[in-house]
Amino acid sequence: MTKALLALASLGGLLFLALQLPNLNTEWPEYLGGPERNHYSTLNQINTQNVTQLKPAWEYHTKDTTGQMQCNPIIVNGVLYATTASVQVFALEASTGKEIWRFKDASEATWFNTNRGVIYAETDGAGRIYFSVGPWLYALDAKTGKPVASFGDKGKISLKTGLGPEAEKKFVVATTPGAVFENLLIVGSRLSEGADAAMGYIRAFDLQTGALVWVFKTIPDPGEYGADTWPNERHPSIGGANCWTGMAIDRKRGILYAPTGSSTPDFYGGKRHGQNLFSNCLLALDAKTGKRIWHYQFIHHDIWDRDLPSPPTLLTVNHEGKKVDAVAQTTKHGYVFLFDRENGKPLFPIEEEKVPESDLPGEKTWPTQPKPKIPVPFVRQRFTVDDINPHSEDKAELRTRFLTTRSQHLFTPISEQGTIVLPGFDGGAEWGGAAADPQGILYFNANEMPWIMSMSEVAKPDGQLSAGEQAYRTYCSACHGKDRKGDASGAFPNLLGIENRRNKEFVSNVIYTGKGMMPGFPNLSKKDKAAIVAFLFGEKGKAAKTKKSVGGQDPNTIPYTFNGYNRFLDKKGYPAISPPWGKLIALDLNTGEYRWQVPLGEFKELSAKGVAPTGTENYGGPLVTAGNVLFIGASKDEKFRAFNVNSGKELWQYQLPAGGYATPSTYEVNGKQYVVIACGGAKMGTKKGDSYVAFALP
Ligand code: HEC
Repeated sequence: MTKALLALASLGGLLFLALQLPNLNTEWPEYLGGPERNHYSTLNQINTQNVTQLKPAWEYHTKDTTGQMQCNPIIVNGVLYATTASVQVFALEASTGKEIWRFKDASEATWFNTNRGVIYAETDGAGRIYFSVGPWLYALDAKTGKPVASFGDKGKISLKTGLGPEAEKKFVVATTPGAVFENLLIVGSRLSEGADAAMGYIRAFDLQTGALVWVFKTIPDPGEYGADTWPNERHPSIGGANCWTGMAIDRKRGILYAPTGSSTPDFYGGKRHGQNLFSNCLLALDAKTGKRIWHYQFIHHDIWDRDLPSPPTLLTVNHEGKKVDAVAQTTKHGYVFLFDRENGKPLFPIEEEKVPESDLPGEKTWPTQPKPKIPVPFVRQRFTVDDINPHSEDKAELRTRFLTTRSQHLFTPISEQGTIVLPGFDGGAEWGGAAADPQGILYFNANEMPWIMSMSEVAKPDGQLSAGEQAYRTYCSACHGKDRKGDASGAFPNLLGIENRRNKEFVSNVIYTGKGMMPGFPNLSKKDKAAIVAFLFGEKGKAAKTKKSVGGQDPNTIPYTFNGYNRFLDKKGYPAISPPWGKLIALDLNTGEYRWQVPLGEFKELSAKGVAPTGTENYGGPLVTAGNVLFIGASKDEKFRAFNVNSGKELWQYQLPAGGYATPSTYEVNGKQYVVIACGGAKMGTKKGDSYVAFALP
């Protein structure tokens, strides 16, 4: 072939590709912007000069206020796809917010689980929307919103496929979209984190038929690689090691990057001595076959719920004079790890550091934990008495409470006495993830919130408590408290007086399906469930039997249970630690040096008293554009903000109708750039919302 012909042929190829693929440069075709999950757009119509003129262009009300919205919308061929709080999927004209279709499976229970986004892919030349609600994975026709009859069972498959028969009665959902590779849809899961957890295996399904293609066992079977990091006898309480926070994919190399969570039960490892591979790992898998290429474990034998909380970010850095395709992983405990994407070699040195041992009977902590030397941690690693919040009105009480707990070390094991967990259960980093630009800079938000945790012996039935209260203590009190009052921050609702706002059927359904952060309990027997509901509705039930185990959880096998997720707050609800409580960070991964860090969010009443902005707890990630603007909602003050990526200077802010606890997206239609964010509120005790708001220049 002549050169001209070659050029023509490749031009033809390009045209063909352009027809096949959504426009990558001007739209937002995948979760977090693309397969790299880099939250980055090359659009620059909105820039540091004009961002102050940004105005709402449209607002779409979902009219569904059942819970939070953490969805990062995708925009393909001028259509925006996203979900409502109870995971109904809808399609909008991306330029006007006008609804095209909306889908809810009328034959299904209403599931209230969180959803962070949907997937667009093409099979047979037709666009499909793949998404999960409850234990199902659906394929819809992108044009009509109707289930694709040829996929699985009339348009859906069970997310329990490939997890073994034990999973059938267990809680399995998927909150975060998986990854597409060629004809495969690769999915993770969200599971219970207690002794009733299913296995967190990663699965690949055929995009067209829904058939299972491969399974990667995140907890290896006996005899397989990694099996020696577990006891020989597998205790039935072992499960988890699931990828709940999303994956990145390098399509050129065919490598999937999947971060995993802890194995179960979360806080007691006495039945799972060993390092527990592949929990708390970044897994690099061959996307075609599911075979392991490399892995790195961030926490050995996790008993702190230090799941990997965020999708990995693929980026390119200059390292020792060479361009290296890398993968970055942020963690709950405040570190950024950076690896060569191909072979898993850390680009900055990591040491194994000696850590404290547990004194809980039966527990065996791992003696060391990995610690990167570069970059230094992005949040405080320890709470000392000097860190008590100086602005609090109850400093003396906070101090007293502080002195009765343990707080020596980041890896101080949870104890009967109470341990301060800092960085806390919601980071450090969280599910919002990190953005990266082509210069190798990573942008992400973080929390600095201390939590107080304690363990106690599992109560054995003593003939005093009713069966309902006994089962409540086993399954519910960790989050809603023994006294049913929930927690001070409002994250875990008060269940006293539930009869005044909900009926029994609703409560029964929530116990089955879960809601938002609450896992469902499909494994509970009808009898236990009815007993719990009766207890919550103030009915006097029969005493629990003294001989039987409680609700299937045998106190003789899992001797310790944990006493609830409690943020360490003062009486007004401010963190017990000194500010900052939330921040936004730019980290140069070419050098490992921070470029800037600024507080994210503000308490008006504290600012009015002359306190410098403290930052607030925050959820949902940033968006970075070639206009040198970073957009983020996330903060408790329900604002949407724009920052200059070079300096961290705030350029613009807008009071949203409700908190934007989701990652925004940006796209262009008919030459106009939009930025859109879900405003579902309902986190950190803030009000609920039901809308998506899109902004554009006038
Ligand atoms: C891991 C923590 C956790 C556990 C365990 C848990 N819950 Fe929840 N629960 C939550 C959270 C968080 C919410 C708020 C969900 C939302 O609206 O986003 C919630 C909401 C609820 C609600 C709805 C309240 C309302 O008015 O909307 C009920 C009822 C409830 N839980 C009952 C239970 C019962 C009964 C159990 C035990 C079988 C239980 N929960 C176990 C965390 C938990």
